[in-house]
Amino acid sequence: MDDRCWVVAREALGGEYYRLRLRPAQPFAAAPGQFVMLKVADSIDPLLRRPFSIHRMHPSGEFEVLFRVAGQGTRLLSAVHVGTRVDAIAPLGSAFPLDAANPLLVGGGVGVAPLLFLTDALLERGSRPKLLLGGRSDRDILCHDDFGCLAVPYELATEDGSLGEEGLVTRLLTRGLRSAEAGVTVFSCGPARMLAAVARVCADRQVPCWVSMEAYMACGVGACLGCVIPGTNGAYLRVCKEGPVFPADAVDWETLLRDR
Ligand SMILES: Cc1cc2nc3c(=O)[nH]c(=O)nc-3n(C[C@H](O)[C@H](O)[C@H](O)COP(=O)(O)OP(=O)(O)OC[C@H]3O[C@@H](n4cnc5c(N)ncnc54)[C@H](O)[C@@H]3O)c2cc1C
Ligand code: FES
Repeated sequence: MDDRCWVVAREALGGEYYRLRLRPAQPFAAAPGQFVMLKVADSIDPLLRRPFSIHRMHPSGEFEVLFRVAGQGTRLLSAVHVGTRVDAIAPLGSAFPLDAANPLLVGGGVGVAPLLFLTDALLERGSRPKLLLGGRSDRDILCHDDFGCLAVPYELATEDGSLGEEGLVTRLLTRGLRSAEAGVTVFSCGPARMLAAVARVCADRQVPCWVSMEAYMACGVGACLGCVIPGTNGAYLRVCKEGPVFPADAVDWETLLRDR
């Protein structure tokens, strides 16, 4: 497999957030929710590739990732220049279903990354998604301009009240579900605690909900079991293989949060 990719654009989005556009030597087809494993450095340190949601796919075969600098790997990635080779194994993992009549997308911080690709795909199919975005402060609310350009209605919430409504995005969700049309399906990506809260709100109202999960990953292809999370059926689920997108009721949230 030819995993070579080249950086064709790099954007600093402010604070710790960056967006890269990559051109693969061998273009691939991907679905929203799937991810790529990027080799962030030429050296053996860090040795392991890092997982990132596919943020956007372009007809040319180029794709984008949006990320927050969390540690050594993402710091190296944030410093790459246009023209740098950054190898990628892609596409990996499961995808969001696209047949929802009334999709409601809920993103927390950099968890918005796969939701732009999902929005593109839903719009292409004639669905009219709505979006709720949350973050700690205005610096953590990303891409709302991109959604605005797509004419997707959105609401914002920040914990410190610096942008949108003050409070958690789940408050917007609770209100949104009260006034939502029938047949709403929720799609969410963000920190585990936020996803657990989103899952609870949806379960209480019997609203179908899909979540994109994160975990530490080593192989990214189902072989090492390094990325497992507890499932409701007592079994463990591999985030890289059965996920990262799961029906929210497949995850044992209580055990997951207790173990973290
Ligand atoms: C399927 C999937 C998709 C992802 N998509 C994105 C994305 O689109 N954008 C993005 O910014 N990040 C995404 N992530 C998370 C991203 O992979 C990690 O932030 C990255 O691997 C950190 O690498 P690092 O070398 O910079 O940090 P490390 O040095 O590996 O870690 C730095 C710090 O971050 C913590 N950390 C690292 N990985 C995780 C994790 N998975 N969950 C919780 N804490 C972690 C570590 O405990 C440590 O404190 C995704 C993860 C998965 C599994
Ligand atoms: S990262 Fe190896 S099994 Fe998921």
